[in-house]
Amino acid sequence: MPETPKFIQRTATCGELRAGDAGREVVLLGWIDSVRDHGGLLFADLRDRYGVTQAVFNPEQASEAFAAAKTVRPEYVVAARGRVVRRADGNVNPDLPTGEIEVQAAHLEVLNTSDALPFPLGDEASVAEEVRLRHRYLDLRRPRLQRIIETRHRVLLAVRRYFDARGFLEIETPILTRSTPEGSREYLVPARVSPGHFYSLPQSPQIYKQLLMVAGYDRYFQIAKCFRDEDSRADRQPEFTQIDVELSFPEPEALFALMEGVMEEIFRAAGLVIQGPYRPLPYGEAMERFGSDKPDVRFGLEMRDLTGSLESSPFRVFSEASKRGDVVKAILLPGGGAWSRQKIDNLVDAARALGSKGLIWIKASGGTIQSSILKHLTEDGCRAVLREMDATGDDLALLVADSWKAACTVLGALRLQIGRAEKLIDETRHALLWVHEFPLFEYSAVEGRLVSCHHPFTSPRPEDIPLLDGDPARARALAYDLVLDGTEIGGGSIRIHRSDLQARVFQVLGIGREEAESKFGFLLTALRMGAPPHGGIALGVDRTIALLTGSSSIRDVIAFPKTTSGIDLMSGAPSKVSDRQLKELSIRLDLPPDLRPVSK
Ligand code: AMO
Repeated sequence: MPETPKFIQRTATCGELRAGDAGREVVLLGWIDSVRDHGGLLFADLRDRYGVTQAVFNPEQASEAFAAAKTVRPEYVVAARGRVVRRADGNVNPDLPTGEIEVQAAHLEVLNTSDALPFPLGDEASVAEEVRLRHRYLDLRRPRLQRIIETRHRVLLAVRRYFDARGFLEIETPILTRSTPEGSREYLVPARVSPGHFYSLPQSPQIYKQLLMVAGYDRYFQIAKCFRDEDSRADRQPEFTQIDVELSFPEPEALFALMEGVMEEIFRAAGLVIQGPYRPLPYGEAMERFGSDKPDVRFGLEMRDLTGSLESSPFRVFSEASKRGDVVKAILLPGGGAWSRQKIDNLVDAARALGSKGLIWIKASGGTIQSSILKHLTEDGCRAVLREMDATGDDLALLVADSWKAACTVLGALRLQIGRAEKLIDETRHALLWVHEFPLFEYSAVEGRLVSCHHPFTSPRPEDIPLLDGDPARARALAYDLVLDGTEIGGGSIRIHRSDLQARVFQVLGIGREEAESKFGFLLTALRMGAPPHGGIALGVDRTIALLTGSSSIRDVIAFPKTTSGIDLMSGAPSKVSDRQLKELSIRLDLPPDLRPVSK
């Protein structure tokens, strides 16, 4: 191996050679995927991100190259020069795009060796994710991840072209910003030159993009990094990317059409097709029918409301529901009469785990009725409930009597669980839809006050503005979410563009005049200086790419993701820092001894 690297010119990638290239002299650069000794001939598969090409080493034709090939191991980095030849008919590999040819190597140079890898690159399923994340640069060598990362690049390129062609400017907004509550906990960065002061990393560019509208840049977009200190999940990361969009003088319909257009481009860039219409579903209807504000509409099992029809039921949980202000919601599983007791009990447990007081079930099986409420309702009463739900055969009814939100949410979660477990979802199809007409506020039991459903800058529907004074919980928002296959991939709203209305909304949120002035004074002032009506949306890039590439976690579509505990296993971030660094930042830690940083 040479001490100083030679920069050898590649003339073909490992993925491009075909039968028509036979006779060409080529230089391939790549990694040894595998080496096989076949009766005196050595075969090496060379891999780069474009594909795999077989090189063959014949000791009689190229003894030096053969000797060099004998020394290589998987993941050595090599340069191979040779002639492209067609493989004999029996040796063609139809599974490989380059399978019709091989390169008869005349020369091989080892550019670097490789230690034995901590895990094989071939069989992803057998390696724990933790091990793969610790050596992410190896994980990223896998063809599947390379395809995903390339798709991500193509999607973002298509997005930039799409917005550029429509007059949008990509404008970068700051990463070191002022702390402003937008829902989640923020990451703080100590400011060395202003002891005791902190920047916050943006949860989104929300306020800046609004200020850009005030500044007259009427069409903005940005591929923006956002940071949220919230519990990670399969579809959440502490830092993630948004396609952030804002425009002045917005018509909701035009905004929907704009974003539907970009979704079509995104699908095309990922090699897929999506077609409208994308009928907007009001939030209330989404909850009523699917028990979710991000419904997966690729399967049925829609919910029914039986509150009215069960008002005279002899079973008091049903009959008194409406008097309590509660509802009775139900779903019918056609053919569910064949479900075992164990399977039903598992659903009951799942409902409890979701916080439900209970799950009522009625099952018809071969003419007999079984039910969790048989002793309260009798067999005839249970049959009446099944009839009410249009049950025709051996079906299973699941019912929840609770507050509207709780009943919808629990049954909605069960619907999804059953849909997945029973394989009712057509995974080959994608379903995109808008959900709109959200409430402006929701009650947070933790905070003991109303909080914004979207964020505090969202405009109420004009006809609901008077409700802010008397009954703000009933006010609806000019907000909308974009939902793909049951995942919220985007959210946006028409904004408040008048300072007085913004101040009133802050008041409803319990943010007093002084606090609003100290936290958002710059926004309130800007809104008083010719702010145009404006609105926008942000699409989650990671979630969208995960859905388009069939990845179960967004970690798979981010080059260097963090674990669910927010740790980068490869670099070890977050890490302890030295006493000197802390001193410079005027920070003293209040930690038990075992968690104190090491002095450096
Ligand atoms: P919102 O908070 O709804 O809106 O976020 C928009 C989209 O960003 C994605 N997303 C995430 N993706 C990965 N990890 C996370 N932790 C995470 N959090 C959010 C989701 C979500 O739909 N400023 C507003 C947008 C606007 O009003 O224009 C905002 O950020 O796909």
